[in-house]
Amino acid sequence: LAQNYTERYRPQFHFTPAKNWMNDPNGLIYHEETYHLFYQHNPGGISWGAMSWGHATSSDLVHWVHQPVALLARGFPDNITEMFFSGTAVFDAQNTSGFGTNDKAPLVAMYTSHYPVGQTLPSGKTVDSNQQSQSIAYSLDDGMTWTTYDSVNPVIHNPPEEYADQIHDFRDPAVFWHEETQKWVSVMSLPGLRKLLIYTSPNLKDWELASEFGPVNAVGGVWECPSMFPLPLDGGEGLKWVVQISLNPGGPAGNTGSGTQYVVGQFDGTTFTPDADSLTQSNWVDWGPDFYAALTFSGLPVEDRVDIAWMTNLRYGGSTPTDPWRSAFTVPRRLSLKTINGKATLTQEPILENAEYSSTHWDTLPTGSTKLDFSGNALDISLTFSESESTQFGMIVRASSDLSEQTQVGYDVEKKEVFVNRTISGVSGFDDTFAAVSTAPLESKEGKVTLRVLVDWSSVEVFGGAGEVTLASLIFPSEESSGIYLFSTGGSTDNVEVKAANVKSVWIT
Ligand code: FRU
Repeated sequence: LAQNYTERYRPQFHFTPAKNWMNDPNGLIYHEETYHLFYQHNPGGISWGAMSWGHATSSDLVHWVHQPVALLARGFPDNITEMFFSGTAVFDAQNTSGFGTNDKAPLVAMYTSHYPVGQTLPSGKTVDSNQQSQSIAYSLDDGMTWTTYDSVNPVIHNPPEEYADQIHDFRDPAVFWHEETQKWVSVMSLPGLRKLLIYTSPNLKDWELASEFGPVNAVGGVWECPSMFPLPLDGGEGLKWVVQISLNPGGPAGNTGSGTQYVVGQFDGTTFTPDADSLTQSNWVDWGPDFYAALTFSGLPVEDRVDIAWMTNLRYGGSTPTDPWRSAFTVPRRLSLKTINGKATLTQEPILENAEYSSTHWDTLPTGSTKLDFSGNALDISLTFSESESTQFGMIVRASSDLSEQTQVGYDVEKKEVFVNRTISGVSGFDDTFAAVSTAPLESKEGKVTLRVLVDWSSVEVFGGAGEVTLASLIFPSEESSGIYLFSTGGSTDNVEVKAANVKSVWIT
């Protein structure tokens, strides 16, 4: 499949399928020196449909190679009897599942089987139309091909009896090994109830309900794609646990659609207990409009947690103006947990590959806008400045020569907020809420503010401060709009430092 990935809006350093529809990242796993990226995929078209697991691999999280579809909707294309909804993958090193052979331990994927038609399965179980149940599949060739466990699937047929009315919305298992209790743990969601169910298993096949969590914090939409993982606090010995939950709608203020929240706490192998101060407000993993269904990799050391999200909003994910593919992922983001203002807070750092940075410094930049002498549509730009006279300071990217098309990324000194303004960023008519401003709270540090801005052919991702706030935003500017400016509003701005580099394409073709 020859591709040069230069179509209009084609991201250059964000993962996209070669063609057709993509939604959630699935089964992210690092195994045998390879990163596997599976994803919700309709191999039959550019809209949500015959949900399957697409597949790509990478040796460095930066360059990706497309692989054949890993789990193809059963009965594709004409008589679909099972779709493979979102899920995760683990390395069963001790062969607890028994799927392995003497010299090969298996990878096991756990996912939601969505049965569009009621039927009796090969395992003898009967399912409703549109029922959702949890199933497993295994791989004995390090993730390249998968065998579904048809003699038993689904392994979790129904939610507990008291939630029997939820069988049509019971999904997205996120499985991991819990060393202390020597058990597998899987977290899944009852979306409409804003509730997570935590199951445990000795062998990935037999599952027992251990506890429930939720609803808490952001509950303005259904809960989907939950996951749970430990992270060292402040890089030390102590671990905290993070629950990451997507919800739709009910995202951050100013975003009328979907979003992703997290809760910090403790997990003992059975029960997740949130920290009291993690429940005082909704904690957003990303404050922009376009960050959903985020998932981290299994198979990496505990201090090396990498998160990837579907970079869109459920409001318009199905109508963005790209062709022949639809949707991109965020750049992989390395997660840390840091105490900020007394509270355990997620921070994020992007993983990408740059050309060399060039730096420019201004002791003082006057009020107004200043055109920079570089431009481009795939850039990594870090901007630092001192809080000074100006009320707003920042950068204009993807600007047309007359500035009628532009995207602003800036800091409001009085409100102590980062903002991304895409009201005149380009094509936006596919959704009436798209042309808007999103904001995130950010304190300056010793009077200085830092914003790292990743500009791609159809997105802007912003990392504020030490990465304690991020904003992912799609934009659809015309290709010629590649100008970069600084702007200072309400006065001048001191100690401005800009470091910029071109970002290399991720495509191995
Ligand atoms: C989230 C989601 C998941 C589900 C999948 C189906 O975007 O709705 O809950 O498993 O997409 O494609």
